[in-house]
Amino acid sequence: MLILNHDDPRPLYVQIYAQVRERVLTGKLPAEARLPSARDMAAELGVSRNTVESAYQELLAEGYIHTKARSGYFVSTIGHEVPPAPPQRTAMPSRVPRTRYTFDFHPAGLDPVSFPASVWRKYYLEHLRMDEPLLARYGDPQGDPALRASLRDYLERSRGVACGIEHIVICSGLQHSLDMVAQLLRGRCMALATEDPGYPLPREVFANHGYEVVPTPVGPGGLDLAALEASTCDIAYITPSHQFPLGEVMPIANRLRLIEWARQGRFIIEDDYDSELRYQGKPIPSLQGLRPDGNIIYTGTFSKILSPALRLSYMVLPPSLLAEYHRRFLFHLPGAALPEQRTLAAFMDNGHLERHLRRMRAVYRKKRQALTAALARHFGPKAEVIGQEAGLHVVVRLMGEPRGEAERTKLAEASGIRLLPFSIAHADGRPADEFLLLGFGAMTPEQLDQGVRLLFDISYGPEPRSH
Ligand SMILES: Cc1ncc(COP(=O)(O)O)c(C=O)c1O
Repeated sequence: MLILNHDDPRPLYVQIYAQVRERVLTGKLPAEARLPSARDMAAELGVSRNTVESAYQELLAEGYIHTKARSGYFVSTIGHEVPPAPPQRTAMPSRVPRTRYTFDFHPAGLDPVSFPASVWRKYYLEHLRMDEPLLARYGDPQGDPALRASLRDYLERSRGVACGIEHIVICSGLQHSLDMVAQLLRGRCMALATEDPGYPLPREVFANHGYEVVPTPVGPGGLDLAALEASTCDIAYITPSHQFPLGEVMPIANRLRLIEWARQGRFIIEDDYDSELRYQGKPIPSLQGLRPDGNIIYTGTFSKILSPALRLSYMVLPPSLLAEYHRRFLFHLPGAALPEQRTLAAFMDNGHLERHLRRMRAVYRKKRQALTAALARHFGPKAEVIGQEAGLHVVVRLMGEPRGEAERTKLAEASGIRLLPFSIAHADGRPADEFLLLGFGAMTPEQLDQGVRLLFDISYGPEPRSH
């Protein structure tokens, strides 16, 4: 007896075909067994005769069954046993994160209505019209020269980075850059120092490439240099202008000491991920600009200032790695799509990026203020905001005896709050009961206030009653 499932997205005739086929292959229907007539099978399954005929025609065409004049359909001899097909995949397990939250505190969330779509569309269409022949070819593996030229000028103006366009590689995100760096340094370097607490991605990428990864503490001036110097690490990954997640700025004395550390065949990876978003004073100049010929690999991204969905980022290689880059990546192809690169170049050349940035700084400054005001209102002295006025997130130190992180995260999820646990920043993943990691980019000031009020209940409120 075949069983048809009306929730199965496949047409009914395909279900009949698949079930008969499976029975033939596994021998449940032996060779020369007679199949019910299409009319009988249709009546039995409650489908039209055409549906069964379609399934039989399919089976016939593929040789699973044959006809005998006037006597109907029979199973063909397959010749050898075939193992049963693996069971049909059922619906995705419920590990898939929910996509809609009422309150989104993810630290990488941007304002959802601020992408400059109409200007972007205009340059995108212009590129499709004017550069059509380029769409029939691979672009420059290092990234479109027009974008690299725009970027060089922008980085010099806004971040004090000094480089030529030959030093810039356009990438599709930090992960892509780090993958290349790990390949570039293989054979020269063995061990990566990462900030602890710090951004988890570099730990993962370098460990996957077989490097030793050494979590190194972060103090008030950023990475603990004494600990770094005492280690055997030969690469240091740092976020010196806005330490992720604590927000420390590395002071100039430490920067110079770190550059000195990198002189003898060691390398610094400077991740300058959100330095343009500074709400107090001017952006902190890059470390790279202090020693452009030093062993500093500078990485930056458009994920914070424009959109993380575009997957556009870049790295600036030091002169000491250029020859190796060309040697190792001789057959590599571009890592980012040309239309996006060209559109971005036009967007930058026409002054839109800096205009957009000025606007977004004002938007995010207001949101940050709304968040800190809400924390003061709802948490009072139980919350201390840590870190400089920059970026898209804050870290909150919780006083007293807050509920533990695991339970808070679970309660938040159940209440429609997207809350990334601070412990993702700990190299050993230990719970961070005293810290909240709160992004403020994705919500309105009103949502921030309501969300923070709920967070207080989740952190300190009475035990929720179980249903
Ligand atoms: C410290 C840090 N670096 C880099 C990135 C991401 O950059 P991209 O989107 O270019 O991979 C993030 C994203 O949140 C980040 O927090």
